Amino acid sequence: MRLLILGDLVGRAGRNAVIEKLPALREDLAADFVAVNAENASHGFGLAPEMADALFAAGADAITLGNHAWDRKEIIPYIAQEKRLLRPLNFPPGTPGAGAAVFTTRDGRKVLLAQVMGRLFMDPLDDPFRALEELLSRHRLGNGLHAALIDFHGEATSEKMAFAHAFDGRVSAVVGTHTHIPTADHHILPGGTAYMTDLGMCGDYNSVIGMAKEPAILRFTRKMPGDRLAPAEGPATICGALIETDAAGRATSIQPLRLGGRLATVMPGPAAVG
Ligand SMILES: [Fe+2]
Ligand SMILES: [Fe+2]
Repeated sequence: MRLLILGDLVGRAGRNAVIEKLPALREDLAADFVAVNAENASHGFGLAPEMADALFAAGADAITLGNHAWDRKEIIPYIAQEKRLLRPLNFPPGTPGAGAAVFTTRDGRKVLLAQVMGRLFMDPLDDPFRALEELLSRHRLGNGLHAALIDFHGEATSEKMAFAHAFDGRVSAVVGTHTHIPTADHHILPGGTAYMTDLGMCGDYNSVIGMAKEPAILRFTRKMPGDRLAPAEGPATICGALIETDAAGRATSIQPLRLGGRLATVMPGPAAVG
């Protein structure tokens, strides 16, 4: 199976690039399943329902959120009835929405997608390790489940790596979101789980992690209230990864994708031999 996942969409630049290019990307890469992180789609903070609708219409099968999940309050009633939109699994019990769902591809195969959020340099939250452990007690690769993809939304590289190794062989892939910077460590762990610390953002890289430079710099140089942060509006680079899995749901390849904007283009090649 071919799983495409894109990192945090930031603002109009990221949104427009993905909405414009995703239909062809999905086709050209023969993706069976497409997930997009959109926690920063709405002016950098949260996701408005009409933007979620536009991403689904452009070919996203699923959307994940993160620490900015509730920045746009209209998403709370929306997520209660839209099962394709996920927030972190390890939010406290009773939080609206779900942190995981099983999706059926166009050819009838089943994909589990879950998002967990890290706790290092992040707001306090339930244990992501225990949350995924509990989820996997109900969903096992192979038992009618063809792939399991985990979006680890977190700041610390160590926590992301530890998490991936803890679940190596039990999920198809653990890929990171939240830092907005793509890492060069995509590889397959010994047990068959594909891993990449961070996918990077879909946004304008002439920025400070997607936000216009001047107000962002002022936050570091002056400890005074300044202009509100706003997304940078230049051409966006689409960042993500393509993961291929075998019949048992193990990863056979993980390839980064970077397209457009200021970063050098990297496109997934033909299927790697597993
Ligand atoms: Fe983000
Ligand atoms: Fe985030």
